[in-house]
Amino acid sequence: MRRAAPDDDAFITALGSSCATTSVSRIRHVNADTAALSFRRLLMFCRERPGTIDLIAAVDGERAGFLILLTDVPDEVTQSDQAFVAFMAVAEPVRRRGVGRALLKAAEHEAGRLKLAHLSLMVSADNAAARSLYARAGLVEERLLLTKMVEASA
Ligand SMILES: CC(C)(COP(=O)(O)OP(=O)(O)OC[C@H]1O[C@@H](n2cnc3c(N)ncnc32)[C@H](O)[C@@H]1OP(=O)(O)O)[C@@H](O)C(=O)NCCC(=O)NCCS
Repeated sequence: MRRAAPDDDAFITALGSSCATTSVSRIRHVNADTAALSFRRLLMFCRERPGTIDLIAAVDGERAGFLILLTDVPDEVTQSDQAFVAFMAVAEPVRRRGVGRALLKAAEHEAGRLKLAHLSLMVSADNAAARSLYARAGLVEERLLLTKMVEASA
């Protein structure tokens, strides 16, 4: 596990863009290009924040996954400091080998080092793999985003 360097940018952008649709639930429709663009926008937002930490995990010397951690975006309701996982992803060929778990553990370590009392993130309700990873890492549901589809009317 290491901090990202500028030459990791292409890896982060390519992997994040390729799995950006995992953030979309089944009740919204998006094409892959739009989701990828949203990921790149998120990346730009994170890069503008002074406290952002990008972590890179490697397997057999090759980049395997990344996690982007915001450390200067307080909880919007309580205004308490927190570490917030903006996005994480693991390359498909090396999934289910503990890379995601290791990235999350490293993020928690960074939060602890910075004395941030919470580690938080958002996940699509349909993303079973990520939800299982987070639940097993001890993250619990705090707020729920509720959405209803609306019929067009005259
Ligand atoms: C979610 C993701 C990061 C998990 O990474 P990973 O390296 O495969 O996860 P790990 O191997 O560390 O798995 C840890 C635990 O998470 C759960 N998990 C991971 N993938 C799972 C899957 N496909 N189905 C069910 N549970 C899964 C399991 O509980 C697993 O423990 P186990 O292997 O002992 O059963 C990866 O699937 C991914 O990159 N998905 C696309 C991007 C994404 O969804 N990012 C999250 C956005 S919020």
